[in-house]
Amino acid sequence: MSEILIDNLNKKYGKNHVIQDISLNIESQSFAVLVGPSGCGKSTILRMIAGLEDIDSGTISIDGTIVNNLSPKDRNIAMVFQSYALYPHMTVYDNMAFGLKIEKLSKYEIDSRVFDAAKILQIEELLERKPKQLSGGQRQRVAIGRAITRKPKVFLFDEPLSNLDAALRVQMRVELAKLHNQLDATMIYVTHDQTEAMTMADKIVVLDKGKISQSGGPMDLYHNPKNLFVGGFIGSPKMNFLKTNIVKKNVQSISLDLLGQKSLLLKKTGTNLKIGDEITLGIRPEHLKVSKALKNAWTGKVFVVEKLGSGTYLYLEKKGDPLVVETDGDSKIKVGDIINIAFDPDKCHIFNSSNTVI
Ligand SMILES: Nc1ncnc2c1ncn2[C@@H]1O[C@H](COP(=O)(O)OP(=O)(O)O)[C@@H](O)[C@H]1O
Ligand SMILES: [Mg+2]
Repeated sequence: MSEILIDNLNKKYGKNHVIQDISLNIESQSFAVLVGPSGCGKSTILRMIAGLEDIDSGTISIDGTIVNNLSPKDRNIAMVFQSYALYPHMTVYDNMAFGLKIEKLSKYEIDSRVFDAAKILQIEELLERKPKQLSGGQRQRVAIGRAITRKPKVFLFDEPLSNLDAALRVQMRVELAKLHNQLDATMIYVTHDQTEAMTMADKIVVLDKGKISQSGGPMDLYHNPKNLFVGGFIGSPKMNFLKTNIVKKNVQSISLDLLGQKSLLLKKTGTNLKIGDEITLGIRPEHLKVSKALKNAWTGKVFVVEKLGSGTYLYLEKKGDPLVVETDGDSKIKVGDIINIAFDPDKCHIFNSSNTVI
């Protein structure tokens, strides 16, 4: 068991209020991902959980015990950094054994923990090498191995894959998911990369300027973003945003101006919106369909075609950002084609002038 409760956490650096009233519950043995753009406070939260940073106000508890005043070594936590932080003059074995020697474990216990971790990470052949004789991916494995040998209740990862190339990042993502299943530990993983968050998390916490913008399961955030920031942050390619206004309204529905061509009828009851109100329509590229019919459709010109094999992304000209449409991999549509794009009314998100979903 290692449930983590964070209650009203605050941190200021001078006048910069970098963590603002963060409250969060991370279930025992779950994989939680804190995600958000650079500078939003991810590392600061992780460092406060680890005990490497003072807390201005609020509490952090692990398994029901407030740890605010516990030193890092007494929290039973291990942290893995983007920079690996290995000792260059020590072998892989010694890097992994270092913390255990300080804890004065027996030679037998240290050996068995290092070999077990090396086996899990498939780095048994590298134990006699020095860090400079390893690739980036191997170094990161050693850093993770060093964390495993400590048998912590909680693993904290701060952008551990950011220095690796794209293929290795995908491989390590899968290995970390496997590791999480093998070890009975709670994991908190920090990243700016929404793909890592979506693929690995049980629970995603989206941070925006020191505040929680929304938290929930990956598909919950994907389908039900509470605000424009989360709608735009989760999903790749990004959700399309169209600034528009209400042209008609009755009890059951509203009609929006669809890029000056026609109106789009959406079922929405009980909103405070009035005719003329400005709103933002959000729709994901995969919820736009190339269509022969003109119902709920907008006609535009394709200016870029991106082939991914499994799918094709079409970029259509419009005022402001292009409209991005996902279609099938074998699509024959070419640059310059004029096509109809149907908006699926059930997949449209409407954000009001405060960028909150309605
Ligand atoms: N030691 C520090 N002194 C002053 N400001 C800091 C310090 N560490 C971080 N900050 C500031 O706090 C904010 C959050 O930083 P950080 O938690 O590192 O963000 P992230 O990890 O999300 O990129 C940033 O504005 C950063 O400049
Ligand atoms: Mg950081």
